[in-house]
Amino acid sequence: MKAATPPLRARWQHPRDDFDRAPARPDACRFQEIVGASAPMREVFDTVTRVARTRSTVLIQGETGTGKELVARAIHAASPRAERAFVPVDCSALAEGVLESELFGHVRGAFTGAVIDKRGLFEAAHGGTCFLDEVGEISACVQAKLLRVLQEHEVKRVGGTGSFGVDVRVIAATNRDLGALVASGKFREDLFYRLSVVTLHVPPLRERREDIALLATHFLRRHAAENAKAVSDIAPETMARLVAYDWPGNVRELEHAIERAIAMTTNPVLLPGDLPSKCVEAACGSGGASAGPSLSLREVVTRHVRRVLREARWNKKLAAQLLGIHRRTLYRLTKRYGISLSEREGDGRK
Ligand SMILES: Nc1ncnc2c1ncn2[C@@H]1O[C@H](COP(=O)(O)OP(=O)(O)OP(=O)(O)O)[C@@H](O)[C@H]1O
Ligand SMILES: [Mg+2]
Repeated sequence: MKAATPPLRARWQHPRDDFDRAPARPDACRFQEIVGASAPMREVFDTVTRVARTRSTVLIQGETGTGKELVARAIHAASPRAERAFVPVDCSALAEGVLESELFGHVRGAFTGAVIDKRGLFEAAHGGTCFLDEVGEISACVQAKLLRVLQEHEVKRVGGTGSFGVDVRVIAATNRDLGALVASGKFREDLFYRLSVVTLHVPPLRERREDIALLATHFLRRHAAENAKAVSDIAPETMARLVAYDWPGNVRELEHAIERAIAMTTNPVLLPGDLPSKCVEAACGSGGASAGPSLSLREVVTRHVRRVLREARWNKKLAAQLLGIHRRTLYRLTKRYGISLSEREGDGRK
């Protein structure tokens, strides 16, 4: 008898689902390339899993550096189109005419320099996915042509007469408020509705601080290996500063901070002095929404460790993983700061 195909949902499992039965698996806090275990990211993973099997257009919204392209790639990779092309297009990087000919192709003689027929990216993405990054930047003319592709599933090359049928799934992303652009007449309303059949919001990092340690550890391993540097850990005091900082540039800014710290440090463990000074200042009271202006570093660490322990349902191994520290370091920290390791004593506190 043929074995039933497991549902796509099974590809990602939150550690909570199995923590009673087994310790957290090393990949329990990521979905494909996306690292995260916070509640908002679990929602993103759920939505990705559900929309992946459809061919609906998806609009991904979120601040710069939150991981919108990574999410688009995850949808494609989890979809039945995974074996076909994923074609990313940065709509903000190209002048109007160039973008038009890139997306839809052109015929010979369509404009000066068009010496041969050229197929566009929609044709190249046939059977696969086209990712339109910064879609809020496209001109009225390209908006009209894009609407046609979405409605008719066909493209007409610039200067051409005939149309080609294309089977392309479109995923678009923007860090702008497309609704506001529609209201101000800068973006077509009909195109907005076509693009936003499913909308997905990737939250800023400051709204999912539980992910910071996971991400920082992930980037530490990656960049230490890439640069062949023996930097194995992030000191708890350093981690507290990373967690307290607001990261206006989101995950991209965090990655760059860790990459730079690894390049510059001479320590085997990253110390607060290895971080950009703005992170250090934030934890000391001049920023960091969760830290509050008058909290000591001790209080920041205590609150964060308690929050993560609750999030991990008092599973020490998982909590240490979420905090990006070794389990022994977690025991040392809780002892030093008098943090309870069990729900009975620990809950009810901030
Ligand atoms: N959850 C995550 N796990 C691992 N890496 C991440 C995560 N989120 C973002 N990154 C990394 O951060 C960087 C920025 O991500 P990405 O390009 O997807 O962001 P974006 O939202 O598209 O940004 P922009 O709006 O500036 O285009 C990339 O190097 C990406 O790999
Ligand atoms: Mg992007």
